[in-house]
Amino acid sequence: MKHCTFSFTTALGAAALLVLGHMPQARADASADLVAKGRYVAEASDCSACHTIKGGKPYGGGMEFKLPIGSIYSSNISPDPAHGIGTYSEAEFARAVREGVRKDGASLYPAMPFPSYARMSDSDIHALYIYFMKGVQPVAQAAPANGIPWPMSMRWPMIFWRAVFAPSVASAQKDVNRTFPTPAIARGAYLVEGPGHCGACHSPRGIALQEKALSASSGTAFLSGGAPIDGFVPTSLRQDQRTGLASWSEDDIVAFLSTGRNLKGESFGGMTDAVYHGTQHLTVEDLHAMAQYLRSLQPNSPNVAAWQYDPAAATALQHGDASARGAKVYVDHCAACHRTDGHGYAPAFPPLAGNPVVMSDQPDSLVHVVQSGAALPGMTKAPSAFVMPSYSQMLSAQQIADVVTFIRGAWGEQRLPRRCGNGHQPAEIRSPAGAGRKTRSAELNQRQRKVSGMVAGHRKAATDAQKETGAGSSPAPVLI
Ligand code: HEC
Ligand code: HEC
Ligand code: HEC
Repeated sequence: MKHCTFSFTTALGAAALLVLGHMPQARADASADLVAKGRYVAEASDCSACHTIKGGKPYGGGMEFKLPIGSIYSSNISPDPAHGIGTYSEAEFARAVREGVRKDGASLYPAMPFPSYARMSDSDIHALYIYFMKGVQPVAQAAPANGIPWPMSMRWPMIFWRAVFAPSVASAQKDVNRTFPTPAIARGAYLVEGPGHCGACHSPRGIALQEKALSASSGTAFLSGGAPIDGFVPTSLRQDQRTGLASWSEDDIVAFLSTGRNLKGESFGGMTDAVYHGTQHLTVEDLHAMAQYLRSLQPNSPNVAAWQYDPAAATALQHGDASARGAKVYVDHCAACHRTDGHGYAPAFPPLAGNPVVMSDQPDSLVHVVQSGAALPGMTKAPSAFVMPSYSQMLSAQQIADVVTFIRGAWGEQRLPRRCGNGHQPAEIRSPAGAGRKTRSAELNQRQRKVSGMVAGHRKAATDAQKETGAGSSPAPVLI
């Protein structure tokens, strides 16, 4: 018995020693786990897409956002105490990220997507804070001062903007906790509507640049397609035929988000940044959750018929008939990669036929891609990079307008109601506050607008001709 007691006490002591011995290690593990979780939340939230500039130090800030009233720059959010957020408490950090209020009490411009981040959970915010404090190197360098002249530089009017358009954390959390058909769809909704802030680009904006809907519970405008950003149009992510994701399977969406490419299209513009900095880092489970959620969204334009491939253009080209406007340019400059039938060699060279980008009622993306080219970088799970050449030197504005008209007519022709709202404003004004990054010259912008106008002109001429000859019984295609 005595022996027993002895060994019992020894065992207890040894166990206590063991526990004690492991304590610091355990604490270090817990903290490392938290830093890793916080890094994942930062990736799911795409923080680096705006707070790290090309060639700059991680989270050093300084990315320029062009607003109609002047330029602002993203903040240095490294833990540097003088130039970054090193002196932010967790509560101050949470307030900046979810409510758009800086440590000094000033309101942030909604270029920082706090109306979406308001949905982020306390535990994600906690992990994010620990990551920024412990997992990010301080960058001792000030972000450029904002270039908005007084009196517009006064931030107090943003207090009213926040009061009217930004949800309170409590109401956002309540919406997060609404009922969903499955736990995976609930997770997908959280990621897309919250940290992923997909709506910042993919939802239409109102007069004060507020998103017209911040979640699926506030109407089908949510993710129904946004205004052009840097000349690229974010398409509908709802189950819209032609311009949305109706023809994309769950796996198509997962492949696109994890590699920026699939058999239906390739990412470019701001979406390449969103994949590169964000979604490619997410787990397969989370990507499936997002895809399942997106596939649960009803179309915003339910009366659009499914797109069907029309072989007429390909047949003509294959028989040597390049008489259609722009067809010759297409054969000479594009068909090598996108093929005469418009099917491309996916996933290296994307198909144009049936591509929602081609069917958008706004030709901006097409004109921009042809004019400026595009480069899809290698991703962790798809290391090859693909480049679409830039044609701004090789082709005249007229030729670009012609070839865009050709591909829209051959493989994307669609008849959609005119999009209401601000379609005629210059790109800078149409850009959501969160996305007017200045990456292109004013000259290119101007040229793109000119070519887009020419495409619209072609379309009008075609419609008028159609009306005159009485051809086509379908409703007239509406102009951009
Ligand atoms: C779409 C671009 C964008 C994304 C994504 C973004 N930010 Fe920002 N953020 C900004 C801009 C721009 C500012 C400066 C706004 C201003 O000056 O009013 C800013 C400001 C901030 C500030 C205020 C710091 C200060 O004292 O000036 C913090 C904190 C911050 N962001 C954290 C984050 C975190 C954390 C994430 C990811 C969860 C994130 N941001 C994602 C654009 C972005
Ligand atoms: C910075 C702006 C921006 C953000 C943020 C953004 N997107 Fe995009 N997205 C775009 C643009 C522009 C396009 C059109 C170009 C293309 O197809 O790559 C696009 C295209 C897409 C497409 C392909 C649609 C098609 O028809 O070709 C999918 C899918 C997509 N986005 C999903 C998402 C999801 C999910 C999120 C949030 C995690 C998101 N996007 C966030 C700008 C953005
Ligand atoms: C050398 C091969 C090549 C040639 C030639 C080429 N493209 Fe592309 N094109 C690509 C690649 C690669 C992409 C994807 C780029 C990206 O996602 O960043 C692309 C993307 C596009 C897209 C956007 C579709 C999507 O889902 O990404 C359009 C529209 C397009 N090209 C039209 C044209 C036109 C019009 C021409 C001729 C003037 C042309 N391309 C010539 C390789 C090519």
